[in-house]
Amino acid sequence: MEQRNWLRELVEATLIGALVFVAIQVAVVNFRVEGSSMNPTLMPGHYLMVNKLVYFQLDTGRLGRIIPFWRPAEPRNAYLGRSPHRGDVIVFDYPRDTERQFVKRIIGAPGDTVAIANGSVSINDERLDEPYLKVRGNTDYGPLTLARDEYFVLGDNRTGSQDSRDWGTLTADHIIGKVWVVYWPQSAWGLLR
Ligand SMILES: *[C@@H]1O[C@H](CO)[C@@H](O)[C@H](O)[C@H]1NC(C)=O
Ligand SMILES: *[C@@H]1O[C@H](CO)[C@@H](O)[C@H](O)[C@H]1NC(C)=O
Repeated sequence: MEQRNWLRELVEATLIGALVFVAIQVAVVNFRVEGSSMNPTLMPGHYLMVNKLVYFQLDTGRLGRIIPFWRPAEPRNAYLGRSPHRGDVIVFDYPRDTERQFVKRIIGAPGDTVAIANGSVSINDERLDEPYLKVRGNTDYGPLTLARDEYFVLGDNRTGSQDSRDWGTLTADHIIGKVWVVYWPQSAWGLLR
């Protein structure tokens, strides 16, 4: 009797452990920061956990073909949680070589008009407050109005970053997830908003 309880507990613990492991595999991806383009927010060699589920999208067009008597007015990909927002630090597939992944900050979301004048970013003619910046640089860019599904990303180290100013915008399908936590080195441990 004693022994059977013990065995059952072991099996339960193993199953729960396996479930948690699978859940983490589905929800989180690890990422190592390579360059200094996100300094000082992220430094080269930092290890990140990236939340893949936060931007989960539902294809309502496909759903409409499965659910009887329901057709979406306008088939589209709908975000279940939140959509990618201005200010979010994201990891994405580089549009010009999707084998490579980069980390940058979203500056413009669909519908926004982005302009940069002497390093100062404005969105829809309003100056963007960027407290996370150490170096603003002196780039000029745009104005550019982002189409539906188009995102404009910049590195926080504006003078040491190759980003949307150089290679253009990216679409939502390139976005892998939102940077959630810096977990290594320990001294840099912290959650990103
Ligand atoms: C650009 O901004 C810098 C400060 O960041 C300022 O010193 C410089 O005078 C500005 N240049 C122009 C052309 O406005
Ligand atoms: C920005 O990037 C350049 C080039 O990689 C680097 O030399 C510089 O130290 C970085 N700036 C900051 C504030 O980290």
